[in-house]
Amino acid sequence: MLAAFVSTPAPKDPMSVLEVGDRPEPEVPDGWTTVQVKAASLNHHDLFSLQGVGLPQERMPMTLGTDAAGIDADGNEVVVHGVVASPGWTGDETLDPKRSLFSELHQGTMAERVAVPKRNLLPKPAELSFAEAACLPTAWLTAYRMLFVKSGLRPGQTVLVQGASGGVATALIVLGRAAGFRMWVTGRTEEKRAAAIAMGADQAFETGARLPGRVDGVMETVGEATWSHSVKSLKPGGVIVISGATTGFNPGAELNRIFFTQLSVIGSTMGTRAELESLIELCRVSGIRPQIDVELPLSQARDGFERMLEGRTAGKIVFTV
Ligand SMILES: NC(=O)c1ccc[n+]([C@@H]2O[C@H](COP(=O)([O-])OP(=O)(O)OC[C@H]3O[C@@H](n4cnc5c(N)ncnc54)[C@H](OP(=O)(O)O)[C@@H]3O)[C@@H](O)[C@H]2O)c1
Repeated sequence: MLAAFVSTPAPKDPMSVLEVGDRPEPEVPDGWTTVQVKAASLNHHDLFSLQGVGLPQERMPMTLGTDAAGIDADGNEVVVHGVVASPGWTGDETLDPKRSLFSELHQGTMAERVAVPKRNLLPKPAELSFAEAACLPTAWLTAYRMLFVKSGLRPGQTVLVQGASGGVATALIVLGRAAGFRMWVTGRTEEKRAAAIAMGADQAFETGARLPGRVDGVMETVGEATWSHSVKSLKPGGVIVISGATTGFNPGAELNRIFFTQLSVIGSTMGTRAELESLIELCRVSGIRPQIDVELPLSQARDGFERMLEGRTAGKIVFTV
């Protein structure tokens, strides 16, 4: 079957190891089932996988992709929760030390078919297209948990999103706006900042710019390049929720400012099956939809990966099968 996959890591030149071609049919363990994939979305995680970050050579070849929407063995339209908990785990799947995402231990979703635990299936409402639904399990669920589960912030407060055009960043803008937060955004180009405003951001600033006032919360996925700005942008008692560090894991920690102004730094990762269910319902009821940059057939996955690597994104990149 057709799939996008990696056979050997390339930390410095990820595009050189992306393969789009034939892979074996999925093996289906007990308690798992096969989903016929209709759409899978691209996440920065997939670029990291090509670089061997979190995916050592011994687990390759590995089909990429952490998100899927498709059709299950009974013909139902489904969304696949991307966090695979260990057998017997109960409760918050993201707290399972042995959890993984598709494409880490188990073959990923950028394929015609993928094996998934039956408990990871959720019904896809007819109101959402397969492409829209495929954006929800990783970037959108991560944004949902950051903003609504972890931050402790209230509608009406001001939230800064670092990054304007990425998958998680655009999800935060749309979700925050829908929930009644004042969303401020930093973006690296005028075009990205204008797009963020069009998506519902209240104001958009150049990356690192001095803001007109301090904010109640910051949503971080950029890491080293923006960390110091995030810390300095907060009101005393404010909160940073961090779920990624695209530009590096070792920023100046700003420890003095963190304790002196009593900031909270909260880690967040993916979300639970129950949170994905709530997110799907939020989209259905409110009418908000993932901002899709481009839909490409899986056979043209290379174009999508190149766009993300070069930072030419304007929301989610989705591969259709
Ligand atoms: N923990 C989790 O469960 C989880 C889940 C999802 C994602 N993540 C992580 O979150 C991060 C974002 O993922 P994604 O899929 O949204 O990636 P993406 O679509 O590639 O977006 C990258 C974002 O980072 C910003 N950015 C990149 N380099 C920058 C720089 N030098 N200075 C300022 N901004 C920069 C971009 O800003 P512009 O808009 O200005 O270009 C863009 O908004 C990744 O590190 C990913 O691994 C973690």
